[in-house]
Amino acid sequence: MTEKHYLIQEDTAQKKIDLEVMKPVQGPLAVDVTKLYRDQGILTYDPGFMSTASCESSITYIDGEAGVLEYRGYPIEQLAKQADYLEVAYLLLYGELPNRSQLLEFDHIITHHTMLNENLKDFFGGFHYDAHPMAIMVGVVGSLSAFYHDSLDINNPRHREISAHRLIAKMPTIAAASYKHNISEPIVYPDNDLSYCANLLQMMFATPCEQYQPNPLAVEAINLLFILHADHEQNASTSTVRLAGSSQANPFACIAAGIASLWGPAHGGANEAVLNMLTEIGDLSNIDKYIAKAKDKKDPFRLMGFGHRVYKYYDPRANILREMCTKVLNELADSNNPMFELALKLEEIALKDEYFLQRKLYPNVDFYSGIIYRALNIPNNMFTVMFAIARTVGWVSHWLEMMSDPLQRIGRPRQIYMGSPRRDFVPLDERS
Ligand code: SDX
Repeated sequence: MTEKHYLIQEDTAQKKIDLEVMKPVQGPLAVDVTKLYRDQGILTYDPGFMSTASCESSITYIDGEAGVLEYRGYPIEQLAKQADYLEVAYLLLYGELPNRSQLLEFDHIITHHTMLNENLKDFFGGFHYDAHPMAIMVGVVGSLSAFYHDSLDINNPRHREISAHRLIAKMPTIAAASYKHNISEPIVYPDNDLSYCANLLQMMFATPCEQYQPNPLAVEAINLLFILHADHEQNASTSTVRLAGSSQANPFACIAAGIASLWGPAHGGANEAVLNMLTEIGDLSNIDKYIAKAKDKKDPFRLMGFGHRVYKYYDPRANILREMCTKVLNELADSNNPMFELALKLEEIALKDEYFLQRKLYPNVDFYSGIIYRALNIPNNMFTVMFAIARTVGWVSHWLEMMSDPLQRIGRPRQIYMGSPRRDFVPLDERS
């Protein structure tokens, strides 16, 4: 470590380096270090990207201190209250809210891309019956490039747009087929007469034996959950999609990489982990024990659904979801839902505890989403799949933004090498 400090003292103490400061439309200033290594031979060091802006983007804005989330400038609270998911998808993709004819055309396009190539059906059968649906999603979405050769020229803007439409449209169909495989029921085809969210419920819960009518409140809840999960600037999975796309990989491979990254319990896998945690806590009498575990540095247990890299106050999405939780549980589940009671009590106790307050650990979007999904009879292992469906439009919007940038280049971070200095090979019989 001393050597490291010596290097910094010697070089930078005698050198004044002029760096440009970038001023965004809103949000923190940024120091442009693009040419720092080329001109000064110095790297910046920022594992976990705590202080790094990886790109310029116009899609989503977050102010973590103020608990602000805006899609193309529109506050999430207004979109949550007034918009339909496909309307928000259009906004994220094209930058403006659609007028009536644009929305009707977009809805028609997405609806007519929901079917899968019939040969893909056999793919699901190759998975073990109890394969995690996220494992199936990663595999099947990655395989889509084997079926859609007609739109893989990533330098052709029309091909990029068709691939984006196909991904948004087919994610619910693939997700529902993954679920049907898990419960050994036949795959249900999309119904073009249903809305995007109603169609997903139909493909998950209909059977060939009887008509299925999606519950309107369940459709409203899914629509809200999908709007809230649609995008979130440069989170881990979106950054994964951008990095994969920067090598000019095809969009289906990039989204498969995003799904893989989202699966982690520190990221989108947290919603499933929250329900598993609440089940493990069991009842109110155990809350103090688990709060203590979460604070114990020797214990790997964390309060799932709490904390966020950017939000240092309430995640605005959690506030909106808490309200929907109450509505869904009152109307669709036994309202004295023990999971929800436990979640509310856990939140109340944690937010009086200095450990959480000092570290600004508040409930995030994953804290309540799983409780709503459970109330809609969606199993725990499908929660992150639901997140992936919703986030696909965010992923493809960032991919399109990056691919249409003429200055786009491959992402290739450097490192601080801390390994062995140069040494010569030792023949086997001379090694101790
Ligand atoms: C999502 O980035 C996005 O935008 C993601 C997302 C999106 O829409 O794409 O918002 C979706 O991923 C939400 C986050 C879901 N994950 C979880 O709920 C998992 C539990 N939360 C954590 O693992 C954690 O809070 C993270 C991963 C969310 C954030 O991690 P950071 O920013 O790297 O923070 P950290 O791990 O450095 O924690 C800072 C301190 C540490 O303590 P000290 O070392 O300072 O003593 O807070 C502690 C941590 O130990 N801490 C927790 C905690 N989260 C952080 N302690 C107990 N329980 C927790 N949940």
